[in-house]
Amino acid sequence: MNAPETAVDQATRVAAGATRSRYDNVSIALHWLTVFLVLSLFALGELWGYAHRPLRGELVMVHMSLGILLGLAVAARIVWRLLPGHQVAPAVSGLTETLARIVHWLLYALLAFQSLFGWYVRWSEGEAMSFFGLLIPSPLTPVSREMHHQIQEWHGWVGWAIVIVAAGHAAAALHHHFVLRDSVLVRMLPRGTMEQGAR
Ligand code: HEM
Ligand code: HEM
Repeated sequence: MNAPETAVDQATRVAAGATRSRYDNVSIALHWLTVFLVLSLFALGELWGYAHRPLRGELVMVHMSLGILLGLAVAARIVWRLLPGHQVAPAVSGLTETLARIVHWLLYALLAFQSLFGWYVRWSEGEAMSFFGLLIPSPLTPVSREMHHQIQEWHGWVGWAIVIVAAGHAAAALHHHFVLRDSVLVRMLPRGTMEQGAR
């Protein structure tokens, strides 16, 4: 009969990556790429109003290009997560687990929606999407100017919703790490980062 696993055994097994109790490198890379893209897109969308031409147009072009990359990163993350063998065991249980699941899926839903809606924002005014200078023409009939402004505003609100939900999610991750002192944050960090903090 096997002896019961001690805390040291468990820590060794986790450190060796022999369980799915932490995220794999692809998931970690896609998570932090998504964070970088969302924050850059938000900053650009909020700031280009203060810039003059031609800088303003260039910032909009960078926003569209990073937006297309965000769509690809989110699609890759969702496909990767659904493939067998890439799921992690929940780090928490009960109500906290349910809440974490709801927040993660809400973030995925908002990100997927915004990634597609961004194309509509551009195409609804009859303008081409730009991916670092490569133009993708609009297949749509342009809407009125007023309607287009309304669509832009909705896109801005969804952006705010993403940033607010993500800020709550990040605060929860920091609370786990610094107050509850568990492994929730460490399992989403590249191996070797703050390893001592993991329990
Ligand atoms: C989390 C992701 C995103 C955030 C936070 C965000 C944020 C914003 C904000 C705040 C604006 C300004 C809205 C206004 O003027 O009222 C904007 C405009 C725009 N966004 Fe995004 N966005 C995101 C993703 C995307 C994506 C994925 C695309 C394209 C694939 C995209 C394309 C556009 C376009 C075309 C505009 C209008 C630019 C113009 O003024 O001509 N965005 N975005
Ligand atoms: C724009 C910002 C962010 C977005 C959109 C975002 C999105 C997500 C999503 C969708 C997941 C679920 C991953 C999965 O299981 O498939 C996740 C997990 C996670 N995120 Fe974020 N995140 C953001 C920022 C942050 C920040 C700033 C931190 C740290 C301070 C963080 C820490 C974590 C951790 C620790 C997990 C794993 C939670 C667990 O094991 O249950 N995230 N994030």
